[in-house]
Amino acid sequence: MSIIDDLKDIETRAMDDIASANNSAELEQIRVAITGKKGALTAVLRGMGSVSPEERPLVGKHANEVRARVEAALEGRRSELAQAELNDRIAASSLDITLPGRAHLQGSEHLITSIVEEIEDVFAGMGYTVETGPYVETTYYNFTALNAPEDHPSRSARDTFYVKDNQPEGKPSHVQGESDVLLRTQTSGVQVHTMENQKPPIYMIAPGTVFRPDTADANHLPQFTQIEGLVVDEGITFADLKGTLDYFCKEMFGKDRATRYRPHFFPFTEPSCEVDVSCNICHGEGCRFCKGTGWLEILGCGMVDPNVFEYCGIDSTKYSGFAFGIGAERVAALRYDLPDLRMLVTGDMRFLRQF
Ligand code: DAH
Repeated sequence: MSIIDDLKDIETRAMDDIASANNSAELEQIRVAITGKKGALTAVLRGMGSVSPEERPLVGKHANEVRARVEAALEGRRSELAQAELNDRIAASSLDITLPGRAHLQGSEHLITSIVEEIEDVFAGMGYTVETGPYVETTYYNFTALNAPEDHPSRSARDTFYVKDNQPEGKPSHVQGESDVLLRTQTSGVQVHTMENQKPPIYMIAPGTVFRPDTADANHLPQFTQIEGLVVDEGITFADLKGTLDYFCKEMFGKDRATRYRPHFFPFTEPSCEVDVSCNICHGEGCRFCKGTGWLEILGCGMVDPNVFEYCGIDSTKYSGFAFGIGAERVAALRYDLPDLRMLVTGDMRFLRQF
């Protein structure tokens, strides 16, 4: 067989092998086997010495052409495989820096939290401290030390969530023991804790959650938020109470809103009032929101009953004071014309995002 035939054979096999190489490593082996030191084509070129001088130019030219075609085929396949391997690596990689970024959902304060903070700001501006008390109380702090008589209806299990019943033997069933454990129904107990732990002058507010066995409806929630207030100092009068709460109402609801003080009863204050703010929906005409009265009740208040001072070891001949309790959910309802208090707790983001 002539060298020309050998070259033709080598070229055909080389082209087949190159075309069927599956990856760069395989292709490299194929290259070594053809054009490497011990490669088939190299061997043929080495054998040129035995070709006759007449044939040599022709065979030489042919051999160089085969070599050039094989090398071009190797190069072509090499870049094809490199591109395919790069594509595979990109596909396998989880990081695609060309994708748009993921937006992070940003949370925000709940409306009730912002209202509590706003009320804190108003009173902090008048020099009040912010106190806290436990959600789980004893009857003593929630009722007795607040001057609630033993048979006060709010003590009954219909109006209070009892956690532990320590009712004393031989007492009628509606009478709870002093050490019964309950979920506080009002933040007023923080008044007692504060007076036990601090000496007058006391100017404090105490925001927090309270609990009552009410079925949730448009105007009631079984769990809601109050802001208690207590002032104890020498020479405090009802004028101080009124001046303070008028200022508060105007700060919270606007300078144009009227207030009115209605006589009421609370066991721990005497005299006591409920404070109403003029209705911002009907401006006093009477509407569904204010139940036709033109006024919206927003807080209870009064002068601290001397009996409460007695329970807390404060000399009621030297000190006087006033107290108040504000419902944060009511303030929210008033401010934003909420038709239903349950909107505050159902977690509907379409509602909550508006604040
Ligand atoms: N604790 C009362 C309630 O839950 C609100 C209240 C009224 C608090 C009068 C007070 C007050 O401090 O003086 O209905």
